[in-house]
Amino acid sequence: MTQTEIVHIPVMRGEVLENMNLRDGGVYVDATIGTGGHAEAILESVRGCTLIGIDVDEDAIAFARERLSGYGNVFFIRDRFTRIKEIVRDCGYERVDGVLMDLGVSTLQLRSEHRGFSFLSNAPLDMRMDTTQRLTARDIVNTYPESRLAEIIWRYGEERLSRKIARAIVRERKKKPITTCRDLASLVERIVKRRGRIHPATRTFQALRIEVNQELHELERSVFNAADVLNRDGRLCVLSYHSLEDRIIKNAFKRLAQQGIFRIITPRPIRASREEVLRNPSSRSAKLRVLERGE
Ligand SMILES: C[S@@+](CC[C@H](N)C(=O)[O-])C[C@H]1O[C@@H](n2cnc3c(N)ncnc32)[C@H](O)[C@@H]1O
Repeated sequence: MTQTEIVHIPVMRGEVLENMNLRDGGVYVDATIGTGGHAEAILESVRGCTLIGIDVDEDAIAFARERLSGYGNVFFIRDRFTRIKEIVRDCGYERVDGVLMDLGVSTLQLRSEHRGFSFLSNAPLDMRMDTTQRLTARDIVNTYPESRLAEIIWRYGEERLSRKIARAIVRERKKKPITTCRDLASLVERIVKRRGRIHPATRTFQALRIEVNQELHELERSVFNAADVLNRDGRLCVLSYHSLEDRIIKNAFKRLAQQGIFRIITPRPIRASREEVLRNPSSRSAKLRVLERGE
């Protein structure tokens, strides 16, 4: 997909910039560079800064590299953000002045015709952010026991009809494997009624994506690692889109604050304004939490 076909609106752009405490010449990490929207905003806001952009998705790195080709001092690293400490060190820095983590899925992934993230596409059920890993959504849908499928759809998708959906998946796959996004979406559509503008398969797809990419697995450790690389007065901003993610971040921040070195800037998460939610529905569930290193 070309740059102009993708319009990724960075969620809470203004709130992120304000809370990153940016300064000229600073060193910042965008740990989830995606399509480079927030990264570009950071690069435009201050002069002479260095940006280390990380993403586990090779396509994201290629896309961001092209988008930000006009800026000097940008590193593009395809890796998992859990490794932030090693990455920062490999780029030649001990500490940095700010870290942004914008969790979840990017427009580039959702809009891709072959990555299998979208219930609107007829792509193979894949959903891997890291295409070097083996487990795909197709494996999960066609091999996990019914009870585990139901648990995942319930926990990660908060889908009330999780058991019914799991039962239908198992019934269907006995006839033939479920291989495309459309197959799965139409199966879910037979069970879940449309709620307003939200597609009936939204929650099931979200649950599978979280399971495929083990999105909650290393999150707590990643937050600790990100906090660890901050300079004094440096800030960690985390945008999350799911209550389970938000809880992990909230608790990680609390534990860090108990060490006496860090200060929680947002006792309650910042939410997107009503105007932003109208303009960009994907900001609806976003929560921004901010932590600052004191010494
Ligand atoms: C919501 S998007 C970021 C969008 C970005 N802020 C922008 O303005 O375009 C989230 C990105 O995080 C990446 N990601 C998810 N888990 C990751 C991990 N463990 N390590 C590194 N990147 C990850 C995804 O591949 C995706 O590109």
